[in-house]
Amino acid sequence: MAVYIPINIAGVQDAQEKPSKTYRLDLDAGRIVGFVDNLEAVQQALRQVVGAYAIAVIEKGNRDEIIAARQSSPMAIGIGEGEFFLSSDAASVIEYTQDFVYVNDGEIAVINRHKPLKIVTLDNHEGRVDIKKLQMSISQLEKGGYPHFMLKEIYEQPKTIVDCIRGRISPDTYEVKLSGVIDNRGKFLAARRIVFVACGTSWHAALIGEHLIENICRIPVEVEYASEFRYRNPIINADDIVIAVSQSGETADTLAAVELARKAGAFVFGICNVVGSSIARATDSGAYIHVGPEIGVASTKAFTGQVTVMAMLALAVGRERGTVTEAYYNEVSAALLHLPETMEEVLKVAPQVADLAKIFTYAHNFIYLGRGYNYPTALEGALKLKEISYIHAEGYPAAEMKHGPIALIDAEMPTVAIATPDHTYEKTASNIEEIKARGGKIIAVIARGDEQVRRSADFVIEVPVIAECLMPIVVSVPLQLLAYYIAVYKGRNVDQPRNLAKSVTVE
Ligand code: M6R
Repeated sequence: MAVYIPINIAGVQDAQEKPSKTYRLDLDAGRIVGFVDNLEAVQQALRQVVGAYAIAVIEKGNRDEIIAARQSSPMAIGIGEGEFFLSSDAASVIEYTQDFVYVNDGEIAVINRHKPLKIVTLDNHEGRVDIKKLQMSISQLEKGGYPHFMLKEIYEQPKTIVDCIRGRISPDTYEVKLSGVIDNRGKFLAARRIVFVACGTSWHAALIGEHLIENICRIPVEVEYASEFRYRNPIINADDIVIAVSQSGETADTLAAVELARKAGAFVFGICNVVGSSIARATDSGAYIHVGPEIGVASTKAFTGQVTVMAMLALAVGRERGTVTEAYYNEVSAALLHLPETMEEVLKVAPQVADLAKIFTYAHNFIYLGRGYNYPTALEGALKLKEISYIHAEGYPAAEMKHGPIALIDAEMPTVAIATPDHTYEKTASNIEEIKARGGKIIAVIARGDEQVRRSADFVIEVPVIAECLMPIVVSVPLQLLAYYIAVYKGRNVDQPRNLAKSVTVE
């Protein structure tokens, strides 16, 4: 049997013939029997490639054609007027076009100056050229007068929450409607367990999702780092719902976790920001957070959007399952409707937080404490500080302090304590006393008018109070601002901190 392999041999290249050709070699006969075209050469080569890639192949001397392919790495093709744009992120070329084709894993795009765009698979089956319109404007990608994207994105939150809940909560009946839940009602009714998979900030939002869903829907929830989940042979059942949370929708580990869960037969629901992203496309259904492009590496408005969507999801599913009282449903739903104003309100703490930040630029370590819904908020506050100011920070459940971390406390180790009203408030207040007694400096995030914690804290940041399950959204704002101003005072590159990428598309 003859075996044909493509080879490119400089020595047999015809001097007259530009561009060069890839030859088809019959191994049995030991001779060249023809040529393969660029597409076939790329197909044959990629069938042997293992791992993630997004590549564009240009034949030397051929200015008419680009062959592009991807596997587990994002790729969008922008379609302009007589021009194409190849990018890992559609937003980066929105200035030139709003029409995009998203290349899927195992697909190859043939972009030819003289022919319509063609999509084929590695096995040479013709794919669909599915053009999607990206609803985004250039102004969304500019700083709009702010010194950094991060600050702009923090200030955008009242508006991004409006966009996130738009059309999903009735102002008259408080009814929450998510099409992803309506269309998959049976799945949510039958679910025996929900598993969140996510990384970084999205993982913190998922921890809040765990509280929301367990409290409101009474479905057991697990929250997994996608990077661990994908490699630890997890038990996944057909009546599990796996919820993938990702701002970019391109995080490699989260995407791999989605693929694994789908293969195992679970129903996979996505909570993403970037429309048409790989995770959004790989999931069975989902709900976008609709907070617009997030440019700052430190995630801010995506976090509050993710928690907002999770609250709506919990309410919608809880009502279907009959696990939420009418009064609580209406309370949370009304609070969501008023959340944009609450966010405007909490943003007023910015000048005070900026002053506080000046005082604490000296610190080399920080501890963030919270309990219940606000334990993940503490983790998120610590992550924000770490990634943009390069100050070491740890988040802890407040009651865990006495099991070890309290040994760290001294005058050099500030503690940010979240002590807003909830059923563990008194306990958090006494944890604060314990830190104080050991000479620690305390910045407490408290409810307006709270006198008890004010007396023991060195500094307080007062925030408006809404339904307890939504407090992480409110409390995260001063924590974002604290990290931001400390980083600015330390002269850090806030929007592009060292060693970090906005979306982690590699392992
Ligand atoms: O795009 P994703 O939400 O999947 O990204 C996950 C993390 O990489 C991301 O949240 C990261 O931790 C941020 N830099 C945090 O601010």
